[in-house]
Amino acid sequence: MNTLRPACGIPDLGPEAYAGWRASEIGSITERLEAALILDLAGDVTGRRVLDVGCGDGALAFELATRGATVTGIDASAAMVEAAKARAKRHNANIAFQVATAENLPFSAEQFDLVTAITILCFVEDATPVFREIARILRPGGRLVIGELGKWSAWAAARRVRAWLGSRLWQQGRFRTAGELRALAAQAGLAIEGVRGAIYYPRWTFAARLLSPAILRWAGSPLLVRDLSPLRRSNPDRLVEGSRVNSARLSQDADVKV
Ligand SMILES: C[S@@+](CC[C@H](N)C(=O)[O-])C[C@H]1O[C@@H](n2cnc3c(N)ncnc32)[C@H](O)[C@@H]1O
Repeated sequence: MNTLRPACGIPDLGPEAYAGWRASEIGSITERLEAALILDLAGDVTGRRVLDVGCGDGALAFELATRGATVTGIDASAAMVEAAKARAKRHNANIAFQVATAENLPFSAEQFDLVTAITILCFVEDATPVFREIARILRPGGRLVIGELGKWSAWAAARRVRAWLGSRLWQQGRFRTAGELRALAAQAGLAIEGVRGAIYYPRWTFAARLLSPAILRWAGSPLLVRDLSPLRRSNPDRLVEGSRVNSARLSQDADVKV
């Protein structure tokens, strides 16, 4: 019997699944790689107000806080938020976690310098309201970093197979292409800085062991981390208005831990 507590109605996705993933070798390698790539995209966060949307058990929020950001994390799952709070308490970190949904963020407009949303959109059927909310709470010039499972990546393919085999979790999976994510961001008034592929190896421990050092070493270089036709959009009228013209950095092919 599966004893994992569900996250916001998502079956079999809870803090225990995350702890299990991180305890595995492929999980710890991939987590380290993913965090390094996300933090690289986020840039210097010292003194920045950061919101981690779909924060899960708070691992990234904690990394951001240790780098000097003032961090808030929200998640629709009370169990995840509980685990995130426990992590912050264990490390004596001052991070505000709360239960909330990405479609209805409980913050007033233009409060955050940076928003991160890592492998949450793959559980959101209609992402339009999520992008709209993120654009609303970002300050002008603020930045969004998204990590998603690329629609055609090996990781998404494996999950599609699991869905066909009856996984209730992955029957809810919704994988998007970089183009779809770009379109959603642009529709919300966000200017796209770039889209990166990141984790190329399939979900095999030996592949992770072999390839992750190279990916880490060359992260940010055009050698390995492809810049998939970055698209810049600027709308002078909106810039003059000082309204929500922000930057979106989208990182593709991130993993999901279950
Ligand atoms: C795959 S986990 C990723 C957690 C974390 N971002 C990470 O990378 O470790 C997806 C998380 O998104 C949360 N989530 C899913 N849909 C959500 C929504 N509509 N609003 C807020 N959180 C949501 C789930 O509860 C879960 O904790």
